[in-house]
Amino acid sequence: QSSPARCPFHHSGEGTITDQVDPTGRAISANAAAFDAFEGPYQVDPAEALRWSRAQEPVFFSPKLGYWVVSRYEDVRTVFRDNITFSPSIALEKMTPNSPEANAILARYGYAMNRTLVNEDEPVHMERRRALMHSFVPDELIRHEPMVRRLTREYVDRFIDKGEADLVDEMLWEIPLTVALHFLGVPEEDMAKLREYSIAHTVNTWGKPTREQQLAVAEAVGKFWQFAGGVLDKMRADPSGHGWMQYAIRRQMDLPDVVTDSYLHSMMMAIIVAAHETTAHASANALRLLLQNRDAWDEICANPSLIPNAVEECLRHAGSVVAWRRLVTADTRIGDVAVPQGAKLLIVTASANHDERHFENPDDLDIYRDNTTDHLTFGYGSHQCMGKNIARMEMRIFLEEFTKRLPHMELVPDQTFTYLPNTSFRGPDHLYVRWDPDRNPERRDP
Ligand code: HEM
Repeated sequence: QSSPARCPFHHSGEGTITDQVDPTGRAISANAAAFDAFEGPYQVDPAEALRWSRAQEPVFFSPKLGYWVVSRYEDVRTVFRDNITFSPSIALEKMTPNSPEANAILARYGYAMNRTLVNEDEPVHMERRRALMHSFVPDELIRHEPMVRRLTREYVDRFIDKGEADLVDEMLWEIPLTVALHFLGVPEEDMAKLREYSIAHTVNTWGKPTREQQLAVAEAVGKFWQFAGGVLDKMRADPSGHGWMQYAIRRQMDLPDVVTDSYLHSMMMAIIVAAHETTAHASANALRLLLQNRDAWDEICANPSLIPNAVEECLRHAGSVVAWRRLVTADTRIGDVAVPQGAKLLIVTASANHDERHFENPDDLDIYRDNTTDHLTFGYGSHQCMGKNIARMEMRIFLEEFTKRLPHMELVPDQTFTYLPNTSFRGPDHLYVRWDPDRNPERRDP
């Protein structure tokens, strides 16, 4: 490309044009050039940070990220729907390439994370998904519900008389982790260790660690990989349990080419994170959002039958997965924008979920919204989240217990919410709440 092509038609609207060009030779707008997925407004509120994009430039190339960013509802759904033109193969690729030193650490641990389900192409993906669907059918899921209820009650018991809690540290991280391990059939290990490993995996895959951080992250990810392998070896010795991983090992005996060794090891590690971190963040986001919208909170306290739709509306408004990735396999168009083969896409579901073209008054939290389940937080199409009903069930039970036992709970005022910097997973590191224990309904009406 000789000189920047300044196309006044492509960048309709206010965006000023820079001297930079995208991979197709079109000039890049100032907004697109400034877009930063690891700090600033996108970290605080991705939907708000891309308001300009939804209005003016719904598909743009981000030179800082090296990805094309897609922000409108229709476009994001179109990308999800066609998993041939838009391959999921890069879904778990490292956003920030490792230094050679960090790679050496991973190699020492024999780290070989590969395809799972979420980043597998067709036809293998569908065969595998079908082969492993059984554990997610409603009759199977219902078996986990009493445990979620019991755990929720036990955790709330621990702090109900205290009058204050950090709900993330004291409950919302550990219950989804316990449920995830139970679902997978993995013995409950040291929770703190698994939390550290999970964060490392997220930073390793979706974050932007410095060279120094990369070394610590690589150590933790390497250990996580070995831990997953060790658990798998024990399961292989006795694959008779109820968990999803034992089920997968048994399926491997019939379908060795579909349920491969590489799949089992990669999945064992990836799914611990996919199943628990997502749900922990989604629950923290939901409680924060509802407590910030006191009318909605009071309504679900008065009428718990509103909770399932409230859960869905929170997943739309403040989902825990805010962006996902696809690789363009042939020259194509997304909306009006030509995108070349080989382009990497960051499809920002949080932005799509706030698109006024699909959701009326999208920034309002409306627990009565009738199309709220159209949200894209669980993805869409053939890869749509298999665990969505487990997550929904956990969130519903958390809200049922809190609205019943601590309806007078409120957010500690003026707290600053912090987030782990990364492109895709979003939930506060802490969520401080308080209440007057003398007003606990159980004290007034034991
Ligand atoms: C896939 C989000 C909880 C298991 C996905 C995808 C997203 C997602 C965005 C990719 C979808 C796509 O490419 O179209 C979430 C969120 C959760 C959650 C926001 C919680 C609020 C869970 C849980 C489990 C789980 C609890 C398991 C127990 C999976 C699996 C896939 C997946 C196996 C791969 C499906 C496939 O590629 O066919 N999830 N997830 N997820 N999720 Fe979840």
